[in-house]
Amino acid sequence: MDDPIGSHPTRAEQLDILATMITDQAKPNDCVLDLGCGTGYVASLILEKRSDLYFTGVDIKADSIVEAKINLTSHKDRTEWFVGDLEAIEEIEISDVCYQFIITALTFHDLPDSAKRDVISFASTRLPSEGFFFLYDRIRLTEKSFFPLQKSIWNRINSIYGRGMRSAESFEAYEADIMPNNRPGCLDDYIKWFGEAGMKAQILHLHGNVALIGGSKVG
Ligand SMILES: C[S@@+](CC[C@H](N)C(=O)[O-])C[C@H]1O[C@@H](n2cnc3c(N)ncnc32)[C@H](O)[C@@H]1O
Repeated sequence: MDDPIGSHPTRAEQLDILATMITDQAKPNDCVLDLGCGTGYVASLILEKRSDLYFTGVDIKADSIVEAKINLTSHKDRTEWFVGDLEAIEEIEISDVCYQFIITALTFHDLPDSAKRDVISFASTRLPSEGFFFLYDRIRLTEKSFFPLQKSIWNRINSIYGRGMRSAESFEAYEADIMPNNRPGCLDDYIKWFGEAGMKAQILHLHGNVALIGGSKVG
């Protein structure tokens, strides 16, 4: 399956890193829950690598879930799919199985901060003590003085990959571009919300301002 979001040049590698961590660490029959699964791209990366894992995907778009089911037909015995809104995560009737890995990829920037915090808390509640939460998304730029450095990184990505990622000409333009489907979380908030949920957070991989954050329950 091809990456459905080709405009983001570093995404395919980082999602493969995410999938590889899971397929390297998972035990036979472990279950993975993907919050904001889209058309099942991450599911395909994981299930192609390991034939003994189970996958549950949740997305707000019924069309994407239909497409995910088609894309993952060859793994239908190991997948289940739910239409649901992460802004009301407690109302989604996700199966009551033990998820060893809960992941969310490029979805948190669509959520208000209150829902980001609630999803992190949900993940902590549902994970066993040895499980992991993986959050992959852009991190909010908050310091104007660093903005020229970020522009250098965006420009370099553009010149190397021949295409760029969501960027802005100035810090003011960047802030004006923050809106309901583009509100990346701040690193400080993430660290705080993971802590409040009883998880330690660790940045596992960074490319520009796109971070793969791992969370694990303390104790
Ligand atoms: C950029 S796509 C990423 C899809 C997938 N994770 C991937 O990496 O291929 C973001 C996904 O988040 C989903 N999404 C956005 N807001 C959501 C919400 N409130 N509840 C559930 N899913 C949501 C969108 O429908 C979309 O499929």
